[in-house]
Amino acid sequence: MHEELTKRLSAAPVVPLIGEDDTAKAVATANALAEGGLSVIEVVMRSDGAQRGMEAIIAETEGLIVGAGTVLTLDQCKSVLDSGAQFIVCPGLVDEIAEYCLDQNVPIYPGTMTAGEVQRAYALGLREVKFFPASLAGGVPMLKALGSVFREMRFMPTGGVSAANLGEFLAVPSVIACGGSWLTPKDAVAGGDYAAITALASEAVGIAKAAR
Ligand code: 3PG
Repeated sequence: MHEELTKRLSAAPVVPLIGEDDTAKAVATANALAEGGLSVIEVVMRSDGAQRGMEAIIAETEGLIVGAGTVLTLDQCKSVLDSGAQFIVCPGLVDEIAEYCLDQNVPIYPGTMTAGEVQRAYALGLREVKFFPASLAGGVPMLKALGSVFREMRFMPTGGVSAANLGEFLAVPSVIACGGSWLTPKDAVAGGDYAAITALASEAVGIAKAAR
């Protein structure tokens, strides 16, 4: 899985976030993103129905790599993996979740924003982390500073990333991919404007191509 995930992210280094309880809307949103060229999707566990939305996307779409985001506890991590999540994203670094995923060979991106957190992730054996919340945690200058110290570490900036700054983040060599919710605006999902979501995904793919 890790190899395929890395391959997809190097081709299109953008991970859109979906947070939708309505399973039909979650599936249609995932398909709209795939049509725009983004096939690695993070479903954020921020509502009671989010896991069902993720399960529906996994069951009813083809060719996507679907992960679970906003995973807060080890129990939740195990539960979303049982539901078919192919990677895990957390807002922060919890050792037992990281250790479990490493042990199970499941890609995990725990949130980090300080040198201490990145070093702890490194010590646990991780070589990829989320950088969160990217814009508030120091943005591109902070990423460059962390990248110069942790030479083997790769980062996924998320939080405050948009079409306006995606190119700058992706130009940093240590960045694997950027994540964000700007690709799935709430009004577009609620109103079923899937063409708008596909257009945002295509725009992001274009920005990524120009940046790399
Ligand atoms: C996350 O869960 O990674 C962030 O909340 C996403 O931040 P964004 O909404 O600014 O993209």
